[in-house]
Amino acid sequence: MILMLNCSYKAKDGNTQYFLETLKNEFGEREAEIISLRQVLNGGFEAFTDKLQQAEAFVIGAPLYVDGLPAQAVKLLEMLSEADRSRFVGKKVYAVSNLGFYEGEQICNLFDIVRNWCVHMQMVYGGGLAVGAGPMVKGIKSVPFAKQINRDIEKGVKLLADRILTGEAMENYYAKTRIPRMVYMQAAHMLFRRALKKNGN
Ligand SMILES: Cc1cc2nc3c(=O)[nH]c(=O)nc-3n(C[C@H](O)[C@H](O)[C@H](O)COP(=O)(O)O)c2cc1C
Repeated sequence: MILMLNCSYKAKDGNTQYFLETLKNEFGEREAEIISLRQVLNGGFEAFTDKLQQAEAFVIGAPLYVDGLPAQAVKLLEMLSEADRSRFVGKKVYAVSNLGFYEGEQICNLFDIVRNWCVHMQMVYGGGLAVGAGPMVKGIKSVPFAKQINRDIEKGVKLLADRILTGEAMENYYAKTRIPRMVYMQAAHMLFRRALKKNGN
């Protein structure tokens, strides 16, 4: 079983959930389960550690928060490092992360956190997929040309899925949207202003 963890606390329609589901679709018959971090930290920790021990691979799905992992995800990594670590030695760990900024390269710090944690845990870091302009990928999925615009992201998802299924490692892959940066910035500013207005600011 491939265990996938959604570290976003967004209750519904989250981008991390979308990328994890997209990845899961590539696994075909192979059993995979997406668990929410919220559930794990609200009384589900023991059950989670049992699943992690059994899993062939562990995929950490996390949005970039302030150039790093969300605090709740850090909390879980700390809890796991204080548990019986021998249960997880040699386990393959992969990551998938998205961010609001255009440049996916900013996710490199998050990948380093996961990689360093793996060293500490004697687990094996297998690489990560970073998605720049993450919220737009799901947002435009039904518009014409979405497939072409998201082509590199689709390539990254297939690459990561292949490595998870074969148990191999890969270099971190920084997928790019084909929307021009300027267009993305304009759209993001417009949506941000609209959200501020909606919240009375
Ligand atoms: C508290 C917080 C911090 C964030 N920090 C960053 C950041 O440092 N850089 C960035 O590009 N996006 C940042 N974002 C945007 C999220 O990474 C982005 O919206 C992502 O798609 C959220 O994924 P989700 O829908 O799965 O929660 C932040 C969002 C929140 C709520």
